[in-house]
Amino acid sequence: MKQKSIKKKYDLTADVYDERYKDIQFEKFKLMLQDIQLHGKILDHGCGTGLLAEFLNTPLFGIDISFKMLKRAKQRRELVVQGDLEHLPFKARAFDNILSFTALQNTEHPDKALNELKRISNRKIILTHLAKFDFSKQINKKFDVQEIRQAGEDIGFIL
Ligand SMILES: C[S@@+](CC[C@H](N)C(=O)[O-])C[C@H]1O[C@@H](n2cnc3c(N)ncnc32)[C@H](O)[C@@H]1O
Repeated sequence: MKQKSIKKKYDLTADVYDERYKDIQFEKFKLMLQDIQLHGKILDHGCGTGLLAEFLNTPLFGIDISFKMLKRAKQRRELVVQGDLEHLPFKARAFDNILSFTALQNTEHPDKALNELKRISNRKIILTHLAKFDFSKQINKKFDVQEIRQAGEDIGFIL
């Protein structure tokens, strides 16, 4: 979807997002992260309202295109920046762990978003997207896939 429409969609959804999706997203976080050790600098990629910071009970860096979603993430102690996942405002290998939940399928050019993810990653990436989309070819081509998991309505990758 085009960035402008995505931004508009999530700016409009921000007030009801947690009520609608908190339990669903928490279930995905649990399935993907319960046995994973996180270290160092962690980025919440497509952070939305910052539910992940609440789940992990730790401050995180967050990036999202929707200002209204980010306002909520900030209240959850995320250190946020507004930006586009296709053009990340970070240096190469800037983050030890990148956590990306249910955002990739929203990007206009997922391939570009994946290239950017690879560029800024120093270690491990945990990535999920809605399972009704299929980015497996691009993901397999760009990353060393350690594991694939079903995470609710998402498919999850440990990279
Ligand atoms: C379904 S929400 C998931 C939010 C959060 N990861 C969670 O688990 O609750 C998708 C988020 O990705 C963001 N997003 C989508 N496309 C984006 C893009 N191109 N650049 C930055 N953020 C984007 C949206 O604004 C939205 O907050």
